[in-house]
Amino acid sequence: MYRPAVLHEPPPEPFGPRLDALAAAVRARTDLEPRLGLVLGSGLGELADAVEDAVAIPFEDLPGWPTASAPGHAGRLLLGRLDSVPVVCLQGRLHLYEGHSPRLVVEPVLLMGRLGAGTVVLTNAAGAVNPAFVPGTIMVIRDHINLTGANPLIGPNDDELGTRFPDLVDAWARRLRELLRQAGREEGITIEEGVYAGLIGPSYETPAEVRMLLTLGADAVGMSTVLEAIAARWAGVDVCGVSLITNLGAGITGLPLSHEEVVAAGKDSAPRLAGVIRRFVRLAGAVNGA
Ligand code: HPA
Repeated sequence: MYRPAVLHEPPPEPFGPRLDALAAAVRARTDLEPRLGLVLGSGLGELADAVEDAVAIPFEDLPGWPTASAPGHAGRLLLGRLDSVPVVCLQGRLHLYEGHSPRLVVEPVLLMGRLGAGTVVLTNAAGAVNPAFVPGTIMVIRDHINLTGANPLIGPNDDELGTRFPDLVDAWARRLRELLRQAGREEGITIEEGVYAGLIGPSYETPAEVRMLLTLGADAVGMSTVLEAIAARWAGVDVCGVSLITNLGAGITGLPLSHEEVVAAGKDSAPRLAGVIRRFVRLAGAVNGA
């Protein structure tokens, strides 16, 4: 099991000054106050095209952020309006499997909170562990299992941002899950709900690991999202999320998994998920304090 090297290293830089520097870089370009943050997973980057009056900031213009390298991830922060709701979008996210530290992986969602977003929507492509979730299934995340072996909150705690031992009961807000389901109904799209298991990657799972995940209570598996959810809840930002099932988990079909297959399936279904997210943004934007 992966052990974060950070346990043996000097304490990391606290989040507070990092967020100050990042927020200052954003504020030098726009004073838009986002209501919602959207983390766009693989295949969903095109939702960003619908953002109006967008100010796009490449990752490399944000202090301490690397150039995004994961295939299918553009690597920029976008502030603008989606159906007149002010939003901040992360087009391309940072992953542990790229070698990024758990703390860097969560800076985008913490920055969204700092910029004013009270809610973040985490999206991802995922493999089905629940064999009933065929490719194309849209799954609202009810809960998660963090199997990355990492936690972004390891290190001295920034008490001004969040508590040392944050609670994660109802981390995936019931109210927002219901709003996502309503968005699905209004779009005429069936929405499932389930548990997302986050692994470190980048190798896909073995068939034995997928069978293990099923007995653990997972419905879907992927390589992102769980650390972002932990950090956002710690900082008092509400969280909801959606997985787009791009493939059956390893071993279920007996065929090998390929990244190209996952990306192609994501592309086919992404417009339906984009429709649900847009509808959700309109619904959430209309609700006070969302
Ligand atoms: N496993 C892990 N991550 C994934 C998968 C998978 O099967 N599909 C898309 N992302």
